[in-house]
Amino acid sequence: MRIDIFTLFPAMFFSALQESILKRAQQRGLLTLIVHSIRDYALDRHQMTDDLPYGGGEGMILKPEPIFRAVRSVLGQATAPVILLTPQGRPLKSALVQELAQQPRLLLICGHYEGVDERVRRYLVTDEISIGDYVLTGGELAAMVLVDAVARFIPGVLGAAESAHHDSYASGLLEGPQYTRPLVFENWAVPEVLVSGNHARIARWKRTMALQRTLERRPDLLEGVMLTGEDVEILKQFHRPMDEPDAME
Ligand code: ADE
Repeated sequence: MRIDIFTLFPAMFFSALQESILKRAQQRGLLTLIVHSIRDYALDRHQMTDDLPYGGGEGMILKPEPIFRAVRSVLGQATAPVILLTPQGRPLKSALVQELAQQPRLLLICGHYEGVDERVRRYLVTDEISIGDYVLTGGELAAMVLVDAVARFIPGVLGAAESAHHDSYASGLLEGPQYTRPLVFENWAVPEVLVSGNHARIARWKRTMALQRTLERRPDLLEGVMLTGEDVEILKQFHRPMDEPDAME
């Protein structure tokens, strides 16, 4: 997959995208990340990329010309989603991450200051995405979050090709507790079931823990999960709504 990122602050991306799994993905040719400086496409002598808002108001607005020029010159005759990172966008959820991971190519535009000229949204961008209900100083960190989350779903990027699909959110459930050595740390032992060697029991325990954790922390997620009959029985153990007669015992 190729991702072109358009930003006023290219240096922000250098270390963040050059470590660990993303570094390895690029070395293996699974992911190509190209960061473009919007300023390089500014037309005027002073390379101005922002200007005052028409009609007055706070702050500066990103000008349309450098962004249109940058995207058009990089995209040429090709077509690909052109995504603006903005708090006004569609929320980035796991389903959208997985959808984006199917694309051979993405273009990401990082907004900054008070916003971008509306003509960028209307006539250049194909999607607007938000990473959460808070306002960042710019779209750069949001673009990095998107790249990182999407990269995990490119086949081969993670150690075992399938592992992203078992994670929290991809399965619809939060993952249960995980342990590694030592078996006993400061008197706290690893649950006995995990060292029992009984794979069916371990699988059942893991599913139970995932269901319990999701119910406790993010019950809203359960609505989107295909639950088996056994799952429903497990959930009943933990969940006793107040309006059920035996809930008051
Ligand atoms: N730019 C500023 N805040 C943002 C957010 N929450 N998501 C995406 N882009 C942003």
